[in-house]
Amino acid sequence: MSGQRVCVSDFEEDARKSLPKAVYDYYRSGADEQHTLVDNVAAFNRWHLVPRVLRDVSSIDLSVSLLGQRLSMPLCVSATAMQRMAHPEGETATARACLAADTGMMLSSWATSTIEEVMSAMTSSVGGGGVLWLQLYIYKDRELTLSLVRRAEEAEYKAIFVTVDTPYLGRRWNDVRNRFKLPSHLSLPNFKSASLAFSEGNYGNDSGLAVYVSKAIDPTLCWDDITWLKKHTHLPVIVKGILTGEDAVQAVNYGVDGILVSNHGARQLDGVPATLDVLEEVVSAVQGRCEVYMDGGARRGTDVLKALALGAKAVFIGRPVLWGLACQGEQGVSEVLELLREELRLAMALAGCRSVSEINRSLVRRREFTNRM
Ligand code: GLV
Repeated sequence: MSGQRVCVSDFEEDARKSLPKAVYDYYRSGADEQHTLVDNVAAFNRWHLVPRVLRDVSSIDLSVSLLGQRLSMPLCVSATAMQRMAHPEGETATARACLAADTGMMLSSWATSTIEEVMSAMTSSVGGGGVLWLQLYIYKDRELTLSLVRRAEEAEYKAIFVTVDTPYLGRRWNDVRNRFKLPSHLSLPNFKSASLAFSEGNYGNDSGLAVYVSKAIDPTLCWDDITWLKKHTHLPVIVKGILTGEDAVQAVNYGVDGILVSNHGARQLDGVPATLDVLEEVVSAVQGRCEVYMDGGARRGTDVLKALALGAKAVFIGRPVLWGLACQGEQGVSEVLELLREELRLAMALAGCRSVSEINRSLVRRREFTNRM
């Protein structure tokens, strides 16, 4: 039995001890030399918080509204693939934890649970609770892609987050070394054929997932496909994987409902900036024409506060949820979400912010600037 876990890295340490090496490596790894993986986390330390005092912080309101849905806090769960490798209940456990936390969960296209069973787990008999969104990869087979969208619509998912940074899979060295593939008792059950369910036996000497992506995912994806997707769904469309002001403006011009500033957990192109470092550029390019969120590297409540101050409407977390899941299933995910909620509440109180609407740009300063003073 491990000691008390007081921060997200305690969960990671316990998860590392309990997960099979190839699974931990898959969840943990970034692309290539992992410069961006390190930088996503380090970027938060390049900003200082500049608190205001004497503001009666006895009551703090963390609630926000995302695409018109009220959530109890500006912290949501990002898509991470194949969660049943971390715990037998996988995505359904994460959904129940999000329901209890009254927050949103983005389900991966590469989930090890079906779109419908995750929605059942998220649906409370007493009403209220969380929100589900579908993360979508665009497959070469467009009818198949649209069938995922239709199932999400029918199951009352609230938005589609379309991933735009994965025409090919980033090269993750450990996955190549481990010849990563799904354990044989698991599959991607949203797909019928064995090849698309990622349950074929042999992927040669490469990362099985990299082979899967090169066979199945459409590398011709371009801006007109955003128009195509929007034509086929009434759900809001958010582009996941924007890192520049220029692409953010393009996305707005193509009518997206939101932008997730993301470098895919540093798993695609190594050497790109930390998401926190490009957030402000994207927010100012968008000029309020759609919602902007971010993911990548947030591990503490103060990190979330800094991202909100730089203009994110909400912050999404990926790996910390996997660590909670690996430690203790639904209970572990709940503990991670509540830990971060309490850290954010405390950070807001100590910074003099009584509600999310009181968080603004004046709350943060680049550290170099402060050092010169
Ligand atoms: C899945 O999206 C992955 O990056 O492995």
